[in-house]
Amino acid sequence: MCGIIGYLGKKQALPILISGLRRMEYRGYDSYGFCVFNKDKEPFIHKKIGKISRSEELSNLTVEGTTGIGHTRWSTTGAVTNENAHPHFDCDKNIFLVHNGIIENYKELKEKLISKGHKFTSETDTEVLCHLVEENYNGSLEEALRKILKDIRGTYGIALMSKKEPQKIVAARLSSPMILGVGQNELLVASDPSAIITHTRQVITLDDNEVAVLKPEDFFILKEKPMVSIDWTPEDAQKKGYEHFMLKEIMEGPETIENAIRGRLIPDEGTVRLGGLDSVRNRLNKINRIVLVACGTAGYASKIGKYMLEEYAGILSEAEIGSEFRYRKPIIDKNTAAVFVSQSGETADTLAGIGELKKKDILTLGITNVVGSTQARETDAGIYTRSGPEIAVASTKVFLGQIATLAMLSVYLGRQRNMSLVMGKRIVSELARVPELAKQILENKEQIKAIAEKYKDFKNFWFIGRKYNFPIALEGALKLKEISYLHAEGGASGELKHGPLALVDENFPTIAVCPSDSVYDKMILGVEEVKVRKGPVLAIATEGNERIKEIVDDVIYIPKTLEMLTPMLSVIPLHLFAYYIAIALDRDVDKPRNLAKSVTVE
Ligand code: F6R
Repeated sequence: MCGIIGYLGKKQALPILISGLRRMEYRGYDSYGFCVFNKDKEPFIHKKIGKISRSEELSNLTVEGTTGIGHTRWSTTGAVTNENAHPHFDCDKNIFLVHNGIIENYKELKEKLISKGHKFTSETDTEVLCHLVEENYNGSLEEALRKILKDIRGTYGIALMSKKEPQKIVAARLSSPMILGVGQNELLVASDPSAIITHTRQVITLDDNEVAVLKPEDFFILKEKPMVSIDWTPEDAQKKGYEHFMLKEIMEGPETIENAIRGRLIPDEGTVRLGGLDSVRNRLNKINRIVLVACGTAGYASKIGKYMLEEYAGILSEAEIGSEFRYRKPIIDKNTAAVFVSQSGETADTLAGIGELKKKDILTLGITNVVGSTQARETDAGIYTRSGPEIAVASTKVFLGQIATLAMLSVYLGRQRNMSLVMGKRIVSELARVPELAKQILENKEQIKAIAEKYKDFKNFWFIGRKYNFPIALEGALKLKEISYLHAEGGASGELKHGPLALVDENFPTIAVCPSDSVYDKMILGVEEVKVRKGPVLAIATEGNERIKEIVDDVIYIPKTLEMLTPMLSVIPLHLFAYYIAIALDRDVDKPRNLAKSVTVE
């Protein structure tokens, strides 16, 4: 969602805020703003709609000052206007505040504040926080903040400063990420490590309801907390010569799978080592049901996980969408484990269920990419996907890391149960080969680009798959619609004749994911139904299947692997297909309209 950065130290704050906001722009990019206290302790405020990465006027801005806060916005409450951009301020322009999240009871708070004479200059929920602090300010910013947090319903990451205490930044969070960066003679606060990683890798993660106070000589939080080191480098968050982060991240697919499995496969024993699950190993032995909870692309990885866990671990499994799971009344007993799957570990809808389940003593596990994220901290145990930073809004490489991790989880749980040594060895040895197979597909990216250019003028697409590749059809459609703004639907190929076939004609192409697996013949029946109705078909098929060329219009080949692992290969051409169509249509692929990287609000 939005991005926050604050700086307090000896260097000039403005360039640090600007570069931090640029690095975080993938989290929100409809407007940006910052406030720096200049050498006379006066606030210098700049707020603007548009993308900070494209703003040329910033190079002409100068302000001498070493304390400041900044924000890049993805609007939730209030339109995209200069006034609604952060930082917001109180009536007397003493307090300056940036906020991620949503204040659910802001309307009633605003009414009360207006009745007391407060004047608002924006439509945002955030502005009520400034006026509430103003009402409660008694010489200490942190005390005022602590007081008002009790009255707020919603989620927040907040950083604020006051003209009356110009050498201080105060920060707090509730269900929205926030870290402190501790450098040499400088302190930073940010909602995302990428904003501060060029300054320090030593960070402290704020917990919910904690208030941190940054001062030049020191910082303090209520509790003594350990410092952790961020294990990725600033270069990992750069484009490394690629035109877009999305392309770079698709190209990093093989190494993402390699990173997920490194040191975890035990080929001789046909099993895997998942250190993050050691503490709950015995509990896992007893469970007889798994509920996977996730959103969007992570939700499709979970659907693949469900198939793997049922087929190979023999455990009844369900894959649930986070936003549904949180509001229905799921029947879950103590023999169930809930597995939360999320790249960011901060997705509000995914996180929503964790606390509730823990209260009922249900085992919660996290499959997460971001170390120290809320999900990683709140679940009982978990597995990191170790995919490194993913910057493009559309998730690509982490999807592969999630599938690889779910495959390992299936082996881990399967070997605790009835999976044979032979089967364990087969999956583990094939998993080790997948990165190499993925590389082979990427070598054909020019062919995929040419096919994408051929299909770019169609307005509607239908993606079909079966069994392990049914979620891949959903993912292919999501990626295409998300970054190209073309209409795309995904579904199970068996469903075609139950309705969607009515759409098919020569202007409605079908992308059929049909590797040579146990459902290939059934897939081809669906493809033929489309061809009979003159629908163009692009097939993703297994190398060596020459016959398919006689049925479909275009083919992209992928190497052969075990059926359960095929999704890690079949999705790569679909990610590239979406990318190249979006490029051909001149879309902003890394920052598609109306979307933000991690959805930390409901
Ligand atoms: C789509 C995409 C989203 C995310 C979803 C969950 O390309 O990226 O659908 O997968 O918002 O995000 P995480 O994995 O951070 O929980």
